[in-house]
Parts: sequence; structure tokens; C-alpha cells
Amino acid sequence: MADRTPLAAGNWKMNGTAAALDQVKALADAQGSAASDILLCPPATLLQRMAQAAEGTKISVGGQDCHWNEIGAHTGDVSAAMLKDAGATAVILGHSERRADHAETDEIVRNKTKAAWEAGLMAVVCVGETLAEREAANTIAIIEGQLAGSLPEQATGHNLVVAYEPVWAIGTGKVPTTDQIGEVHDMIRSRLIERFGAGVGKSVRVLYGGSVKPSNATEIFAVENVDGALVGGASLKADDFGGIIAALDTAKG
Ligand code: 13P
Repeated sequence: MADRTPLAAGNWKMNGTAAALDQVKALADAQGSAASDILLCPPATLLQRMAQAAEGTKISVGGQDCHWNEIGAHTGDVSAAMLKDAGATAVILGHSERRADHAETDEIVRNKTKAAWEAGLMAVVCVGETLAEREAANTIAIIEGQLAGSLPEQATGHNLVVAYEPVWAIGTGKVPTTDQIGEVHDMIRSRLIERFGAGVGKSVRVLYGGSVKPSNATEIFAVENVDGALVGGASLKADDFGGIIAALDTAKG
């Protein structure tokens, strides 16, 4: 698998208050010797406390969104520099829930990614088709378009992770077949190599996301060009996320 360190990333979405920090401690205790990188992205209100709880452990923390400007009159928004200041090393950008709920376009995602890089954060840029797009056999074209529009130049294996998350697989318990996952991940790898060159294109990690659980993780991680997972619901419990990390370590170790 080239030189890509597997990555298990957890997206807590709009879940978690102070009590949930117990899960971070439990995960850190259980995963002290994990080979995979581990990233947890809590709501912004928990970021600083989670970063403190995770200090000195295998766990890094990240945001779930940032503004494209560094400072200014943007009520309710958080900048990449603020995430970094709170202890984040990464940020999820262009998640389908933000593309849908906040009308985020590829251009907005690209500008946010640039802002993340300027602040020194790793961007986890999400792409994925809806069910209607898949049923119309448009999956590959949709994701090619999202990649072309959402990724700025200057990508490296350190500042960029791409997450393939079919919208219809998020929170539904429905998972694409391993052939379907492999087809998209192979295509993403090819596009990354074409656009950024083989060195960078082969070093960017490509995650799968959408109803990943301990029970299906082994099968998903056996797919070539799947370098880890972006996990929603199952990242909220240390036991479940730990099971996914263990499967990733075994599959890619
Ligand atoms: P679920 O794992 O809950 O399906 O969510 C996936 C996701 O959207 C992660 O960003």
C-alpha cells in the first residue's frame, strides 16, 4: 500500500457534550499501540477539551468545517486558525451534510481547503454521489467533478485526505459492494496521480465512509486503495471505533 499510513477518522457530527470525553480516554487507553493514525472530529464546542484529553495519546483531533476567511464578520462561523488554536490538526471539509444543509459548492469547499492549508491543518475533503446519481450511472462523473472542483493545487500526502462517502450509505446501514467501493477508490487514485503527479497522488490517503462498523470493516479494508475510514455513528463509542481501528491495523499492517 505505497507509504500511506492507514487512517481511522471519526466524525462525531452534532453529537457529544462533556460526558462524551470519557470515550476519548477509553479509546486512548485501548489504542495506545495502534499502527493506524487516529483522528476524532468532535463538534467545535468540544474541540479544545478533547484535544487536552487526547494530549500525549495516539489520537489527534480535528474540526468538521471551517470558514474560508481567517477572521471577520461571519457570525456563527469558525476559522481554520481558530480550530488550530483549539488544538486541531485537521478539518473535515465538504461533507455531504454540509453540501446539502449549507449549500456548499465545490468552489466553497476548495476555498475552505485553501484556508485549512494556510492555517497548517490537514484537510479531509469529502466526495460522494446520491442514490439518484448512482442509479443514473453517474457516480464516476459526479465524483470526478467534485474532485476537480473541490481540490486546490498544492496538495500533498500530508495536507490532503480524500473521503469517498456515498450519500445513500451515510447513516443508513447500506454499504456499497466491495467492487463498487474499489471502482471509485481506483478512479480517485488515478485522478490524484494525473492531477498532482505520482509522488503526491500515491501518497494521499483515500478513506471510505458510510455505515462502517466493526462487523463490515474487515471486508471494506481489504479493498485496494482504501486507506482507512471516515466513521460517523460507530465513532461515538470507543468499543466500536476500537474494533474498526483493530480491523484497519490487521488489514493494512
Ligand atoms: P455513518 O458512519 O454514521 O454512516 O456516517 C458516515 C459519515 O458521514 C462520516 O462522515
